[in-house]
Amino acid sequence: MTAISLKQIKKLYGTIPVIHSVDIDIASGEFLVLVGPSGCGKSTLLRMIAGLEEISAGELRIGDKVVNALPPSDRDIAMVFQDYALYPHMSVEENMAFGLKMRSEPLSEIDKRVTGAADILKLQDYLERRPGQLSGGQRQRVAMGRAIVRRPKAFLFDEPLSNLDAALRVEMRLEIAKLHRRMQATTVYVTHDQVEAMTLADRIVVMNAGHVEQIGHPLDLYRKPASLFVARFIGSPTMNTFPARVIETTGRHLVLQLPAGRAAIDIRGRSIGAATTITFGIRPEDLTVCNTTDAWLSGELAVVERLGSQTFGYLDAGTEKLITVEFPRTADVQVGERISVKGDSSNVHLFDSEKERRVN
Ligand SMILES: Nc1ncnc2c1ncn2[C@@H]1O[C@H](COP(=O)(O)OP(=O)(O)OP(=O)(O)O)[C@@H](O)[C@H]1O
Ligand SMILES: [Mg+2]
Repeated sequence: MTAISLKQIKKLYGTIPVIHSVDIDIASGEFLVLVGPSGCGKSTLLRMIAGLEEISAGELRIGDKVVNALPPSDRDIAMVFQDYALYPHMSVEENMAFGLKMRSEPLSEIDKRVTGAADILKLQDYLERRPGQLSGGQRQRVAMGRAIVRRPKAFLFDEPLSNLDAALRVEMRLEIAKLHRRMQATTVYVTHDQVEAMTLADRIVVMNAGHVEQIGHPLDLYRKPASLFVARFIGSPTMNTFPARVIETTGRHLVLQLPAGRAAIDIRGRSIGAATTITFGIRPEDLTVCNTTDAWLSGELAVVERLGSQTFGYLDAGTEKLITVEFPRTADVQVGERISVKGDSSNVHLFDSEKERRVN
């Protein structure tokens, strides 16, 4: 088991910085998930850990060794890519054994490990096939098998499931969770998928334009996002956010003017003055239908989506974007209906307008 530590890691392509002083300490056996918008530097960071990309500045440790200058083959790390990168002319068995053969491991050992990985990944019946004769999910399992047989110090995954259809993604997600429970190997996993991030991660790193926005336990990020960026990024459907004006304040106790009413919220840290505008956030599941006198937001339902297990309504409440409301799944709500909603102050997320940091 191996810890990985990134200290002030930077990456420049030519003169253009794409990773700015990233600090992350990954514990031995931890499952760390990297998320962030396209182009924020997730793959670059992963490739620097793997040794496929030079580190411009900072210190990368794997275990207790600084590995900045170590070639990929000496880092003892296995990377699984989105496109699998299997050898098309080799059988499943040969694909999994290839790396070990190159390292001249004894044949009996290679055989043992390949058989072991095939058992874990349920590939026993496919060992003689070529990648072209496999489904996407089976190919992805071979790519994981190839990583497992190496018994690496750590696994790196770059969107490994994004080429699979929805059902297979779920199946493979559970396989990865089981695999991690079984192997307890340090893992860094990049994904665009909210559910993968929330369910697989011990901790999630939210990246934004080459910076780390927040690192934390998935539910902590969900419940207490430290910035508006994280608030909007974590959670699907996304958090409702709109500007609200402070109309009364005792410094730490604010009364806010919302589109259809008022809400009283306590904040932490520095006080906020009257007449300030801040960003008010509330998740769709934290809004409930109420009468007009208690309302925070009121309007007509522009769209209703019934997903079977959930029902969402999109309320035209005069805010810039429609307000998403999660209804009880059997709720009999209709497009065009006028409704009012409110929430509980304990579920409100407030962000200052200037730095967009959480204030409550
Ligand atoms: N070889 C390169 N030369 C110059 N710029 C690059 C190179 N590779 C990546 N970049 C830039 O670095 C930034 C980070 O890219 P990276 O591939 O790490 O993003 P990402 O977070 O993995 O995005 P995605 O979610 O789309 O995969 C991007 O702005 C990208 O254009
Ligand atoms: Mg990428």
